[in-house]
Amino acid sequence: SAPALPRGRPGTEGSTSLSAWAMANYIHVPPGSPEVPKLNVTVQDQEEQRCREGALSLLQHLRPHWDPQEVTLQLFTDGITNKLIGCYVGNTMEDVVLVRIYGNKTELLVDRDEEVKSFRVLQAHGCAPQLYCTFNNGLCYEFIQGEALDPKHVCNPAIFRLIARQLAKIHAIHAHNGWIPKSNLWLKMGKYFSLIPTGFADEDINKSFISRITNYRQYLLTSECEFSSLIGLQLVISHNDLLCKNIIYNEKEGDVQFIDYEYSGYNYLAYDIGNHFNEFAEMILLKYFFFKDVELKIHFMALYLETLPEGKQVGKEVTEKEVEILYIQVNQFALASHFFWGLWALIQAKYSTIEFDFLGYAIVRFNQYFKMKPEVTALKVPE
Ligand SMILES: *[C@@H]1O[C@H](CO)[C@@H](O)[C@H](O)[C@H]1NC(C)=O
Ligand SMILES: *[C@@H]1O[C@H](CO)[C@@H](O)[C@H](O)[C@H]1NC(C)=O
Repeated sequence: SAPALPRGRPGTEGSTSLSAWAMANYIHVPPGSPEVPKLNVTVQDQEEQRCREGALSLLQHLRPHWDPQEVTLQLFTDGITNKLIGCYVGNTMEDVVLVRIYGNKTELLVDRDEEVKSFRVLQAHGCAPQLYCTFNNGLCYEFIQGEALDPKHVCNPAIFRLIARQLAKIHAIHAHNGWIPKSNLWLKMGKYFSLIPTGFADEDINKSFISRITNYRQYLLTSECEFSSLIGLQLVISHNDLLCKNIIYNEKEGDVQFIDYEYSGYNYLAYDIGNHFNEFAEMILLKYFFFKDVELKIHFMALYLETLPEGKQVGKEVTEKEVEILYIQVNQFALASHFFWGLWALIQAKYSTIEFDFLGYAIVRFNQYFKMKPEVTALKVPE
């Protein structure tokens, strides 16, 4: 059984106080949203032939007019969480059904019901592709035309602006149906903490891991209180995983779309931005030098705030102070993001069958956390 979770502020969990009743991290799918069929199909991905059979039985429902013999299956990405296969007929790739097969044991990391809810909410607001169905070990959705961003795109001012605006658009969605939204960031981190391995076979690695683990626990116990004392934090529907490959740029249409909502849910707006900044840096060989560019970040946040309708009058200029306050929050939550993905990678190191140095990745993220912490703590809100 799982050890007790270090979670929440004392007194809120399980209490019947008004705040416990009125606050929730539920995502409310708007009435009238299309129902998503759940197909009783399991797609085996170990063998090509069986994988094809699985995909074809999904297509029987989703594209009954397709001739099974004409269907092309193409492995789109071998990501580090899931497998993604594109299915289409002919050569034009106008209608591509994407089949995403959940990675082994990722149910430990991802709440699949929440994922579907986020998907449906974003779809209802024109911010996601169509979700065609779920099946026993994955889901199918519409392929969005365009290309996944590459680090070289990140500094292209036009694309940069599109990302800031799209992020603000998503953050402006209301999906809490009268609840006061609450972040589940700490709850999730507490859950992840309970799942990380207790040791590693390699003696050196194990030693360094064991010596750090106390720090990690300490962080979790104190961080929620620290963050709760920050003022003016806003909670929004947050993507929570805005890395380049989850951003699809369509040059012809001049827009960007965000995909993959496995980690989406109510969270602090500043977390989504901080996490996004971390991810861009990470693309460059896991070295955190690139997105240190403060001016670029400030520019991004100004563009974002301009679009965000919340808390500002239409036509009002975004003030320098607003940007500075957000900048500090974003840096603080960037730390939380390093921590979150560090824990995530430790769990993946234990369970994932995907060939990737998860442990190395975890160490980079935790090191970055401890390196940045003093700098970020020293940032002060302007008078
Ligand atoms: C799950 O594990 C099996 C073997 O252990 C592997 O062949 C398969 O590719 C994995 N599936 C995913 C989606 O990672
Ligand atoms: C890791 O180190 C701890 C503490 O020294 C030890 O109890 C544990 O057995 C080690 N784990 C492994 C897998 O070697």
